[in-house]
Amino acid sequence: MNKRTPFIAGNWKMYKTSSEAAETAGQLTSLVADTTDVDIMIAPAFTALDAVSKVIKASRVSLGAQNLYWENEGAYTGEVSASMLVSVGCHYVIIGHSERRQYFGETDASVNHKIRAAIKANLIPVVCVGETEEERDSGRTFSILDKQVKEGLNNYFAKDLESLVIAYEPVWAIGTGKTATRDQAQEAHQYIRSVIEDLFGDTLCQSIRILYGGSVKPENIAELMQMPDIDGALVGGASLSAESFSKIVQFRK
Ligand code: PGA
Repeated sequence: MNKRTPFIAGNWKMYKTSSEAAETAGQLTSLVADTTDVDIMIAPAFTALDAVSKVIKASRVSLGAQNLYWENEGAYTGEVSASMLVSVGCHYVIIGHSERRQYFGETDASVNHKIRAAIKANLIPVVCVGETEEERDSGRTFSILDKQVKEGLNNYFAKDLESLVIAYEPVWAIGTGKTATRDQAQEAHQYIRSVIEDLFGDTLCQSIRILYGGSVKPENIAELMQMPDIDGALVGGASLSAESFSKIVQFRK
């Protein structure tokens, strides 16, 4: 039986000014006030973290960032460190999102460094992996996932990764309206869990939460959540409205 607490996370990407983000966050906190059996996170842009943090402080919604840099401080123009994220109330940080890999040169090696910085600062890393359409069509889905997980988590021990969350986000399903079927998602999640078992053993393999991401909506969340290895969702577009995101959070209703 799956004892992992479901986790629904919203990635607001480069949307919403600080005041817009605070407004949506405020609406969300009231809509999900009665939901006690699901962990909830929203990740606004850096510029909105402080404002959103104040709004969600006394609520069940936690704060996440969309990226970080692995040094603690220094001459790294444009970057933000783990301790800076903690200082504005972040508990989570998304690492290695496919848009960062695709447009900003993120690699499995940089993902690896960023995970270390996050863990050291007590931030929960939400590490994204997933294949492109071309990789899937050429039968390389599992080998890509294998490489991303092994290189991203290279040189870690199970005890370092107790809080780690993995998000399986097939690149062809992000923002496209094409959701992986629940069987395709389950197959990938099961594979990722088996890689974790090989690398770190049974305890971490059983406890680690693996989220699905890619065109998750109120209409498809319930069936995805029925699958044994799907523990939650990382939601982009449908997290921008408090109403639709709260419906995803309340997938059991
Ligand atoms: P989407 O994005 O829900 O808009 O497909 C998911 C993500 O990029 O995390």
